[in-house]
Amino acid sequence: MKVLAVLYKGLEAARQEPRLLGTVENQLGMRNWLQSMGHEYIVTDDKEGASSEFQKHLKDAEVVITTPFHPGYLTRDLMEKAKNLKICITAGVGSDHIDLDAAVDHKIQVLEVTGSNVVSVAEHVVMSILLLVRNFTPAHEMIERGDWNVSEVARNAFDLENKVVGTLGAGRIGHRVLQRLKPFNCKELLYYDYATLPESANAGLDARRVEDLKDFVSQCDVVTINTPLHDGTRGLINRDLLQHFKPGAWIVNTARGAICDKDAIAEAVRSGRINGYSGDVWNVQPAPKDHVWRTMKNPLGGGNGMVPHYSGTTLDAQKRYADGTRQILQNYLEGKQQEPANIIVGEGKYATKAYGQR
Ligand code: NAI
Repeated sequence: MKVLAVLYKGLEAARQEPRLLGTVENQLGMRNWLQSMGHEYIVTDDKEGASSEFQKHLKDAEVVITTPFHPGYLTRDLMEKAKNLKICITAGVGSDHIDLDAAVDHKIQVLEVTGSNVVSVAEHVVMSILLLVRNFTPAHEMIERGDWNVSEVARNAFDLENKVVGTLGAGRIGHRVLQRLKPFNCKELLYYDYATLPESANAGLDARRVEDLKDFVSQCDVVTINTPLHDGTRGLINRDLLQHFKPGAWIVNTARGAICDKDAIAEAVRSGRINGYSGDVWNVQPAPKDHVWRTMKNPLGGGNGMVPHYSGTTLDAQKRYADGTRQILQNYLEGKQQEPANIIVGEGKYATKAYGQR
């Protein structure tokens, strides 16, 4: 059996740090295990274009492993050429780089390591909210420059206490963000989701559900985006919706870059309509050098907390998603039942509603 994995190059860092399991060098720690059973294991980062290693080996691979961090885009067209493909495993959470409708049509299963990095992301969200609200980045840059001007940075620094924070999507990550924000004594915690939080999950949180999206964003000082990317969320935060945000609100997006309109966000930050935008996900990854989100600033010289896609790939998370990927593969090889929460597309049908109500 051929197993094809598309991972990112870890280079020197991966050679020095074997716990960087999600890299081409460290191969999710599975090479010996797979080879000892006689399977062929191809690992590459070369994923674009017809002559890429990815497309070359996809033609006869039975299992494809990809990650959201360096996504191997599995389009309908490619799936049609992948005659032997039975199962796609996402080492992590978020399978929007796979054409899920095409997977349904071709009876190719899609599984994720659900929950493997949700704490890692939720912690990053809380950090990102704080660094925007407290105007941290410009203050630190000032120190590195050798300057010292307190009012220059304090004039756009606030407390999180007494602010209204809302999560767009209150699933595993959104819920954990709300839990972590509780001790900050925010004025209110809000959420917008298809589903109501179960009573047990909302106990002690008292998060209020807002059912209309415009109404939701108009009430929030901070909006954190925690939904998967699908037809219903692509480009959701656009020029039109941004007009309904509170003037000077902050946005944190660690879900998927394409949920936000790139240029509309940059314009809103540059004009000060939005006081800041932070996150680790981009509409194209790796983000081009001249991507406007790298350098956009609000009129007071701050409001940008962008980093590469790494919130869900801490060393702790890499261990969990590498172990989870191996378990899914082992279940597949032994014909065992998969963990239901990990199944995005079962054989010929969606197994989750998280990628849109179907
Ligand atoms: P989840 O499936 O537990 O929760 C997603 C929630 O979004 C569900 O409650 C669902 O009902 C809701 N939802 C879906 N579409 C919606 C819409 N149009 N409007 C309102 N709510 C909607 O997923 P989880 O684990 O919380 O992850 C969410 C996303 O975060 C992933 O799909 C992935 O894109 C992203 N992620 C990013 C990572 C990173 O490293 N930056 C790592 C892990 C996940």
